Amino acid sequence: MLDQSQIPSSPLPAFGGPKREAAEAAMRRAWWPVARSVDLATPQPAILLGERLVVYRTESGRAVVQSRRCPHRGGDMCQGKVHGEAIGCPYHGWQFSAEDGVVSHVPSMPDQSKRPMKAQLKTYPVIEQWGHVWTALEGEGPDFYEVPAWDGVTFEWMAGTPLDSVTGVAVAIENFRDVAHFPFVHEVSMGPTPHVVEPLQVKREGLTITMDRPLLAGAGDWATDGNCDMHYFCAAPGIATITYDYPDKGKRVVVGFPSPMAYDHVMIFWGVANEVGFKGESLEECLRLEEIVYREDLPIAGALEPREVDWDGGYEEHSVPADLFTLNYRRAFNEFVTRTLAPAGS
Ligand code: FES
Ligand SMILES: [Fe+2]
Repeated sequence: MLDQSQIPSSPLPAFGGPKREAAEAAMRRAWWPVARSVDLATPQPAILLGERLVVYRTESGRAVVQSRRCPHRGGDMCQGKVHGEAIGCPYHGWQFSAEDGVVSHVPSMPDQSKRPMKAQLKTYPVIEQWGHVWTALEGEGPDFYEVPAWDGVTFEWMAGTPLDSVTGVAVAIENFRDVAHFPFVHEVSMGPTPHVVEPLQVKREGLTITMDRPLLAGAGDWATDGNCDMHYFCAAPGIATITYDYPDKGKRVVVGFPSPMAYDHVMIFWGVANEVGFKGESLEECLRLEEIVYREDLPIAGALEPREVDWDGGYEEHSVPADLFTLNYRRAFNEFVTRTLAPAGS
């Protein structure tokens, strides 16, 4: 039985989450990372909810996300080249504007005024944030994520190697902030950690969930910077962060943002950041250790059944107090779907 006294807000209802189709529809309107900023020296491929995309940077420095298939004869724009504020197809060299995707040059035509203006790449909204390029498939994108604990702090970011994981977004987020799996999945990287989980102080407000826990020095390789407070912060549908607040060294951050290539298959984009002037471990070392932790999770998370949280309730599950963060994330996800699909003005 769940200890209801641990739930600070309303009592936990039997979770009646969104149906899968509703979740998928809402996810098309959310922001998702599709590339690392550091990888845009050449056009990069991405897949978001089944849509094949190209991500590139124009000469003026702006990041662009467009559909990947050339509308002439299907060339792969990821093999193309950037020309100023346009991208050129590798096959016959047609160029498409970064601004709106409309064909801007057809090399084979002497009279450019006759080019087929209906030929265009679909162009998606872009935000470049936390070392990554983000986009939304439908609409202009909702308000972007904000992390209150980072307000007024200047961080230096380093993006990790994206990790392919055969899980859905919610499973990936739940794995990132789950605390009961440490002694079983992360024994190598973290060393022995307690099996018993203390009463978790979880709070949810709308789409965000927070939890504070102490990190005690000596708990594994990465805990060499002394004791600190860990602030967990998640926002539905897709970011999970931990901010390590060291009283005498400054703040360090670890973030994960799984991006749904398909409903049950994510590319986990992630990164680390140190407050400028941080006096503890270097960013490179932080990144190295975090990747080891991630790679311990991948085979376990990737073998879960089902691969994405079962919003339709067809699978048996039982929850205990250590699952409080997960349960609150599911409520937040539910609210994300409800809000996103609500008719305008309602
Ligand atoms: S296929 Fe792209 S220009 Fe011909
Ligand atoms: Fe883990």
